[in-house]
Amino acid sequence: MSVRNRIEVMHGVNLDQLHRRDPGHYGGLSLDELERRVEEHATELGLVVRFFRTNHEGEFVEHLHRLEGLADGILLNPGAWTHYSYAIRDALELTRLPAIEVHLSDIENREAWRRHSVLSEICVGRVSGKGPAGYEDALTMLKTELS
Ligand code: DQA
Repeated sequence: MSVRNRIEVMHGVNLDQLHRRDPGHYGGLSLDELERRVEEHATELGLVVRFFRTNHEGEFVEHLHRLEGLADGILLNPGAWTHYSYAIRDALELTRLPAIEVHLSDIENREAWRRHSVLSEICVGRVSGKGPAGYEDALTMLKTELS
């Protein structure tokens, strides 16, 4: 069997503005800087990453539809969609790929509405509140899942 090492890293709504968001929650990095860091760590782990970002829910959904045969796992931070988008949940389920939900901030200990994720049931794991390092943990979890 061929190596399963292709990870799709997907960012949703408002994550393109990461550098402008509250550094107390999000650390002050830009999304480009974050992606560079994720890529470096993925390479160290022998994973191949591709990045996708959008502020449009339908585009996020359609990108998930297109992943068949192109990715072995998904690392996703859908931003606020995490908390209410059943459309993204259904599309993620359709991929049948192992997915890890990542949040830079500690969603368990912020506003009450952030505590609930409509995705967590269908993800193999979640990392939250660890900043960019959480992405590295998620890559390691996906590597274990795929090996
Ligand atoms: C986030 C947490 C969400 O509640 C928020 O809406 C975001 C980012 C995070 O990375 O901590 O946009 O997913």
